[in-house]
Amino acid sequence: MREQLANIRAQALAAFEGAQTPAALDELRVKYLGKKGELTVVLKQMGRLSPEERPAMGQLANEVRAALESAIEEGGRRLAAAALEARLKAEAVDVTIPGRAVKLGHQHPMYVALDEIKEIFIGMGFTVLDGPEVELAELNFDRLNAEEGHPSRDWSDTFYFDEDSRVMLRSQTSPMQVRAMDSMPLPIRIIAPGRVYRKDEVDATHSPMFHQVEGMVIDKGVTMADLKGTLNTVVQKLYGEGTRTRFRPHHFPFTEPSCEMDVQCHKCGGVGCPTCKGEGWIELLGAGMIHPRVLEMAGIDPDVWSGWAFGIGLERTAMRRFKIADLRLIFENDVRFLEQF
Ligand code: PHE
Repeated sequence: MREQLANIRAQALAAFEGAQTPAALDELRVKYLGKKGELTVVLKQMGRLSPEERPAMGQLANEVRAALESAIEEGGRRLAAAALEARLKAEAVDVTIPGRAVKLGHQHPMYVALDEIKEIFIGMGFTVLDGPEVELAELNFDRLNAEEGHPSRDWSDTFYFDEDSRVMLRSQTSPMQVRAMDSMPLPIRIIAPGRVYRKDEVDATHSPMFHQVEGMVIDKGVTMADLKGTLNTVVQKLYGEGTRTRFRPHHFPFTEPSCEMDVQCHKCGGVGCPTCKGEGWIELLGAGMIHPRVLEMAGIDPDVWSGWAFGIGLERTAMRRFKIADLRLIFENDVRFLEQF
């Protein structure tokens, strides 16, 4: 029996040392120390020994068991350390490898122009509003004094979502006038930039989607002089001191009187050239004094309050600002084009 124990000890210790994985080590533990393990089997035979032999043999057996157990523990530690080492090696990051440079882009020219416009108006005490592109015809038309039958309400001009022509893609940012009047305390000074949609074919100056910036002031004693003074100031800041402007009478359902504002052609200085189609002037924006009926529909007394509003096309402003000839370039997002600004 002494020999048996010595053999088991030698074999087991060698086997434990050779174990390459925790699973293999566990299998060996069962093989030697499990219920039917080799050492267990020997220990079960102790009963057959004579009383004289038993204490010494018992002590030896216990020593062997202790040796095996501590060898297994040791093996477990060895395998865990090896696993950690392997993982550290596998996950090692070489911090000396040069990084890949991030290519920094920059703002789209139209948003450069928008930021300039925003800054000018914020400097004059205006608040910038954001509004929905999916709009109610009630706000886009009715509340702006464009009743049923107004040509711009036609299905050939406007994108509707329903048969009843009630929900639509806004065709102008002017419904933001109504939203501002409905939600803000007087006096009001706002601009509202955003996308608008009309059923236009794409060409060098048209797109079914484009951007406008709406502006509105309502206060006591506001007159057409405020409209002209403010918009002239904006144009000087946008296109440079001394830029000449002119106001032409026009018609919008929600302003009375209404006008369009032109700037003198930057290319020819007013003589007439292809850029201004020989006119010497380029149309910049629509504006006017808010129609008393529009104020009334918003619950504002037109005998106490008055106001003016304007709407400016953002693409055209950017095209003039950066001398871009074709509207399509603004939307195509060709990096070779955008890089120039
Ligand atoms: N909404 C008008 C347009 O799209 C522009 C405008 C805005 C005119 C505000 C007057 C006042 O043409």
